[in-house]
Amino acid sequence: MNIGNFIYVKKQKLSRYLALTLTRNRSFTAMQLMIKTLRTNNMLPEKLVALDLFAFVGTTTAMDYAHETEYLEMWEIDPYYAKEAKRNIPNAQVVCGDSINAIKNGLLLRKEYNFIVIDANVKSAFSDGSYESFGVFPYALNYIAKEAVIFVTIFTNLKETIKLYGGSLEQLDKDWIQARKDFFQIDNVIDGRGIDYLKGFERIISEKNIVLLHSQFINRNNSIGFGVFVVSKQ
Ligand SMILES: C[S@@+](CC[C@H](N)C(=O)[O-])C[C@H]1O[C@@H](n2cnc3c(N)ncnc32)[C@H](O)[C@@H]1O
Repeated sequence: MNIGNFIYVKKQKLSRYLALTLTRNRSFTAMQLMIKTLRTNNMLPEKLVALDLFAFVGTTTAMDYAHETEYLEMWEIDPYYAKEAKRNIPNAQVVCGDSINAIKNGLLLRKEYNFIVIDANVKSAFSDGSYESFGVFPYALNYIAKEAVIFVTIFTNLKETIKLYGGSLEQLDKDWIQARKDFFQIDNVIDGRGIDYLKGFERIISEKNIVLLHSQFINRNNSIGFGVFVVSKQ
């Protein structure tokens, strides 16, 4: 662990702590707002049995819904982040390991979850050659309970992503852009509309004969949002 990483993790924790304790009833993250909206619409399971496949230290997703869970399993590949995640969310089952390998090879700790979060990295391929959530999303559908909610990160605007992480459109990994075209099956995968990116996920849900009760795009910032899918097994 280097000092930059240490400071980043502590800063993330402090900012989430302040947001959760001081502003809880005034300003919400996209995840908090969505959880409240799903609850109001009777679309959120009473008690969440949750799976968070790309946990980091829990500050940008898990902390927003941990209070709704009766079981929370978090996977994080980096040992330092996994240790911090356990400290941030003591009741969670934090597994330090490769969630992509786990979901493909039956190594998850349960067979069914009613709440799944896929907040994968941007830009580079995972060890199995997949990008973003494209590799894990179809497998995640094999683990849903009778009714479930899935949150999946969608990178909406790569021009804005470049502003955050540097580089240029020309320098973007060509295989990544092709993977986006293959998955989303839309022309504009650089700065498309949030709702248009939902179709790629909806196609896979339909191919698995899973009933889609509701889908929604919700913005997180200028470059990223969540696709939210409320699904039911036949
Ligand atoms: C975008 S961050 C997730 C942020 C997180 N949802 C939060 O609440 O803060 C992606 C995380 O996934 C982790 N990661 C990358 N590949 C992984 C893998 N194959 N299995 C598990 N975790 C992985 C990275 O170390 C990183 O911490």
